[in-house]
Amino acid sequence: MKLSGNTILITGGSTGIGLSLAESFLKEGNEVIICARREELLAEAKSKFPELHTRVCDVSNPEDRAGLFNWIKSDFSNLNILINNAGIQREVNFKKGSEIIETAVSEMRINFESPVVLSAMFIPFLSGKENSAIINVSSGLAFVPIAGMPIYCASKAALHSFSVSLRHQLKDSGIKVFELIPPAVDTDLDKGARKARGQKDFGIKSEVVAEETINALKNDEYEIVVGFAKNIMNNSRSDFENAFNFMNSRR
Ligand SMILES: NC(=O)c1ccc[n+]([C@@H]2O[C@H](COP(=O)([O-])OP(=O)(O)OC[C@H]3O[C@@H](n4cnc5c(N)ncnc54)[C@H](OP(=O)(O)O)[C@@H]3O)[C@@H](O)[C@H]2O)c1
Repeated sequence: MKLSGNTILITGGSTGIGLSLAESFLKEGNEVIICARREELLAEAKSKFPELHTRVCDVSNPEDRAGLFNWIKSDFSNLNILINNAGIQREVNFKKGSEIIETAVSEMRINFESPVVLSAMFIPFLSGKENSAIINVSSGLAFVPIAGMPIYCASKAALHSFSVSLRHQLKDSGIKVFELIPPAVDTDLDKGARKARGQKDFGIKSEVVAEETINALKNDEYEIVVGFAKNIMNNSRSDFENAFNFMNSRR
């Protein structure tokens, strides 16, 4: 697809992978809008890249989502690319019983429900526009789960499945559906849990993910599988147990 002259909304674009994507898309000559919950981090992103448009929005909050959509319709009517990137990652221990419910439900809402609802809101708006696309950011953990993060992994597996279905459902609509599948990336997604566990490998740089994404989008690679995620994704069912044990031994 053409990677300049687009108007792109990146949810969760204030830090990490979203911010690196924003920087790369700006460099390619696109108009970029980012949204996230923390205003101070949006302001920091804007001071680094003054061309960015920013908006405070919790994508799991229906009123915020409606406000975001109406703002885009009135101020950025050319918008043609939606990137569902906002996400959180939590350790959830079901041995604790009902006390985990709120955390689990909110993780599912942000990681899965929000991309689904935003897709439904934006598809009629994107329809008929040149070079339109939805890009969902899932994870290598969609394919091999980590026992300590059952909701995160389930939300990403659901997002993968949804992305495959949506791509086929929209194939005659002109809207391309991509899925970005990163490996471990050195961001603050886990709120320092990896560092606190003494884990040495924090993953690759978000800039590398952004660079590979840009190249893959140019070639219309619908599943953009980065680095180690390729090994995880290509496991056959018989490899699964080894992969599961390997992934879980690192935690
Ligand atoms: N880092 C990894 O190892 C890795 C691997 C595979 C996939 N991914 C995926 O990549 C995506 C980006 O994560 P990241 O690693 O770049 O982490 P990050 O630096 O923590 O970025 C997450 C972004 O999402 C925003 N966000 C979180 N909840 C939100 C909500 N309810 N509404 C709006 N914005 C929200 C955050 O800002 P606020 O908190 O201020 O809202 C932040 O801008 C996620 O979907 C993640 O699952 C990450």
